Amino acid sequence: MPFTADQHEETILGDIGRSLAEMEFEHPPAVTAALRTALELGPVGYLGDEEILRMQGAVGDWLAASYGWRPAAETIRPVPDLVTGFRAILTHFVPEGVPVIVPTPGYMPFLSVPQSINRPAIEVPMIEDGAHWRYDFAGIRAAFAGGARLLVLCNPHNPIGKVAAEEDLREIECIVAEFDGLVFADEIHAPLVLGERPHVVYAARSHRAAAHTITATSASKAFNIPGTKCGQLVFTNPDHLRHWRRVAHWHEHATSVLGVIATEAAYAGGRAWLDEIVEDLRETLREAVAALHASAERTGIRVIAPEATYLLWLDLRDSGLLRDDVSAARAVYDATRIRVTDGADCGSAGAGFVRFNAALPRPRVRAAMERLIGAAEAARAAEADGPGHGAAGLHGVG
Ligand SMILES: Cc1ncc(COP(=O)(O)O)c(C=O)c1O
Repeated sequence: MPFTADQHEETILGDIGRSLAEMEFEHPPAVTAALRTALELGPVGYLGDEEILRMQGAVGDWLAASYGWRPAAETIRPVPDLVTGFRAILTHFVPEGVPVIVPTPGYMPFLSVPQSINRPAIEVPMIEDGAHWRYDFAGIRAAFAGGARLLVLCNPHNPIGKVAAEEDLREIECIVAEFDGLVFADEIHAPLVLGERPHVVYAARSHRAAAHTITATSASKAFNIPGTKCGQLVFTNPDHLRHWRRVAHWHEHATSVLGVIATEAAYAGGRAWLDEIVEDLRETLREAVAALHASAERTGIRVIAPEATYLLWLDLRDSGLLRDDVSAARAVYDATRIRVTDGADCGSAGAGFVRFNAALPRPRVRAAMERLIGAAEAARAAEADGPGHGAAGLHGVG
């Protein structure tokens, strides 16, 4: 990844990081070329059947080549983005007042969107054993038994970076089937698997899983094109698809034609670009995690290496960086000028954590880790010196 002079200057002095999950990299050249051609040929009209067919072909080919899953073309439906898709599914598939289950920490809209449309979100905290994150199956079962209708299954998982194992998915399938529930399977991070364990499409594993699942997918995350506005919902239950087709027109219609073009180009011509990005992220994250682990005794910062995504979920509870008067994200920013997402926005299980987006040129991630480690060491030193020595600050940038 070329590292510009501006980025260098900012790395030394300025803010680092993004609180949203987007990459500080260019998108694939194939996408730029396709969008440029589309604009030159113009006009860019409304989404029509022809664009939907092209999107279905491109997404079907990608899913088949990547995960050995080829859902029937007509089951792949457009939405402008997955939060819009999630909201639409809740609106049309979950009655008002009926809760949805969100294993937490969870991607922030999985909690805020249900609440905003009167579908209470039940948080089921995941269990951390120091080296891994596990689902709380008993908690998920209890939530269904208490009347919840839908489970949000984010795999690979934002923010913790877990790739669900087959045993996890099998257990979840059994529980959901027992209660005749639904799964909203958000698999947007699937192309960003870093480790050995491959991504498994939940709905592709069995007829029973397919029958209770709506899968959400998109090129937007992995190819860095969220602003082009094209995601997909895949309906593997024919009754769900029929219902969706009755209610979906305006949800689908908001999908951008330029998003379809970007998606097609990313999937057809972006594989080599993605491989390079994933390789780069793998090394960047490996290095960052190694630095955090090596300094953990001095800083109190804990982290589990992500198996996917470009996110680092940092446990600051023992770090001395937290303050009573501001959020964890604000405390980190004040001490380091690193922009992170506040863990508490990911559910109560996230209190005292922050999410760092490492999809940056490696020197910037390196600088961020140095700042964070330095600030945490300073905070520890200030604590050791006793009260009155103030919060940690980054020398020169605080
Ligand atoms: C798990 C998950 N789902 C959905 C989204 C939203 O993506 P988009 O706007 O591309 O649909 C994100 C973005 O960070 C995400 O992490």
